[in-house]
Amino acid sequence: MGKDVIIACDFPTADKMFGFLRPFEGRNPYLKIGMELYYAEGAPIVRELKKRGFRIFLDLKLHDIPNTVASAMKVLAGLGVDIINVHAAGGRKMMAAAKEAVSTAEKPPVLIGVTQLTSTSEEMLHSELLIEKSMEDTVISYAKNAKAAGLGGVVCSPLEAGLIHKACGNEFLTVTPGIRFAENDKGDQTRVTTPAMAKQLGSDYIVVGRSITGAADPLKAYERCVNDFC
Ligand code: C5P
Repeated sequence: MGKDVIIACDFPTADKMFGFLRPFEGRNPYLKIGMELYYAEGAPIVRELKKRGFRIFLDLKLHDIPNTVASAMKVLAGLGVDIINVHAAGGRKMMAAAKEAVSTAEKPPVLIGVTQLTSTSEEMLHSELLIEKSMEDTVISYAKNAKAAGLGGVVCSPLEAGLIHKACGNEFLTVTPGIRFAENDKGDQTRVTTPAMAKQLGSDYIVVGRSITGAADPLKAYERCVNDFC
């Protein structure tokens, strides 16, 4: 596992998704399905992509009371996806309930926890979320909670990947969005790095959305990420 590029397929319809995938025939990239596409198309789009042989990270970031998250996780894990996630902010009990639920699937996905969103800045952490600890301390503490609850890794910024491996071990996956080429705009992300820097910092998977999906030649942008990261 690990050292791969996951494309964030943030599209509003299945047609747009399949149109995007056309030039990738034969490449079989790892895909991330998030809220936009899942809420628009539901489980059938996931089943169809699995049928076509794609590896899927289903990024719905569940965050609710433990019983509700566990019941929903049971349903989602039954889709046969490869990675699935919850918000670590939901706490250890919620994460452990999610872990127990995914374990009942025929092919249990790897369950990971979102630490702090890569759009959250240190300043926002203190002034809006009223978390007094530093970003690093918060992220490491959330990662340790995720590990204690039996999760297989976390979503974090590449900037935190090394520290998390140090705290939770090299087998504990770091899946890292917030990836931009040097010439790209940051957009709404704040804690960003390039694919090459993410590799240096020890990320296991990079998640890349707009730098690929919004590129003039998405296949070329994907190949560039693979070249720089893998
Ligand atoms: O377009 P961009 O590369 O910024 O997309 C990043 C993707 O990763 C989005 O789909 C976003 O929902 C997701 N993500 C994130 N930060 C997290 C967790 C997920 O940006 N902490």
